[in-house]
Amino acid sequence: MTIRWGIMATGWIAEAFAEGLQYVTDSQLIAVGSRSQRSADDFAARFHIPNRHASYEALANDPDVDVVYIATPHGMHYENMLMCLNAGKHVLCEKAFTLNARQAAEVIALARAKKLFLMEAMWTRFLPAVVELQRILLSGVIGEVRAFQADFSFPPRFDPKSRLFDPALGGGSLLDLGVYPVSFTSMLFGEPERIVSAAHLGITGVDMQMGAVMIYPDGKLAMAFSSLECNGANRAAIQGRLGRIEIAREFFHPEQFSVILQDGSREDYTFPIEGNGYRYEAQEVVERLLAGELESPVMPLDETLAIMRMMDTMRAQWGMVYPNVD
Ligand SMILES: NC(=O)c1ccc[n+]([C@@H]2O[C@H](COP(=O)([O-])OP(=O)(O)OC[C@H]3O[C@@H](n4cnc5c(N)ncnc54)[C@H](OP(=O)(O)O)[C@@H]3O)[C@@H](O)[C@H]2O)c1
Repeated sequence: MTIRWGIMATGWIAEAFAEGLQYVTDSQLIAVGSRSQRSADDFAARFHIPNRHASYEALANDPDVDVVYIATPHGMHYENMLMCLNAGKHVLCEKAFTLNARQAAEVIALARAKKLFLMEAMWTRFLPAVVELQRILLSGVIGEVRAFQADFSFPPRFDPKSRLFDPALGGGSLLDLGVYPVSFTSMLFGEPERIVSAAHLGITGVDMQMGAVMIYPDGKLAMAFSSLECNGANRAAIQGRLGRIEIAREFFHPEQFSVILQDGSREDYTFPIEGNGYRYEAQEVVERLLAGELESPVMPLDETLAIMRMMDTMRAQWGMVYPNVD
């Protein structure tokens, strides 16, 4: 059986994901939907997609499509997911999953009620290096993990209308970049007992930089930093009682990491991304759908909801709200 994909939107990540789909088995990219026919046609021509829709609604209602990958700005994810699920489609939705936990809970409840597959496209978790890193952690070589720290920053050109800075589209560093260290923390430790965070809000009212400490009942600590103002190495360190794992750069899509033990010994690991990093999350969706499952054990929906709650707590501490969102 072949799983037939539709892609909603034609921006940067839609294109990268379409490239990744070329490496996925049992899968076909059959449709694209855009707000304009011209963008749909251009995108479809690049990827040889037969069904080209001039609205998201037409894509959601395309009877040839099994699963829709949503690649719109985060401020649109909630309504886009509801539309697809109500049309009976399975859904893979880009991070940040929604603007807040209330929206996420509603979408998850709808998917469960309709018995449709739903997953947040947190691609990092499916990459070969991260899968192997988790295996090494489970082997106990660095002992009990007690702390995690990671940063993700990059300085885009300032444009108040772009999705990165416009509050109506879910702008700010947290939902775009900070979600990676927050999600990685959740993968390692689950939901914290307490969060202490601070942010610098820019002239459009979104967080330009933020830092958060996540505190667990047994004393584990995680520290996350994200910024739209700096150019960072985007490192991560997972620290245990017997040693640590370091990801020296771009921890959100690593191909290498090092295991460094108390005695100073060091082992470097390399797990290349073959083809395109987005193929792995897409392959997971295909495999779960073929197995008749409604969510992924690697990125479960209850965890996506917890991640949104963690980010709500941070934004509440800064007094940062998105317009027209409860
Ligand atoms: N996983 C990753 O590595 C990764 C990387 C980058 C982004 N993302 C996520 O993917 C999503 C999209 O990011 P992107 O970088 O692809 O953004 P982008 O290049 O700006 O593209 C967003 C697309 O969404 C559609 N759209 C719908 N309403 C829009 C609006 N009001 N303003 C602008 N575009 C609108 C447009 O497609 P049409 O014109 O065809 O309708 C547009 O091309 C975000 O949630 C982001 O967090 C993930």
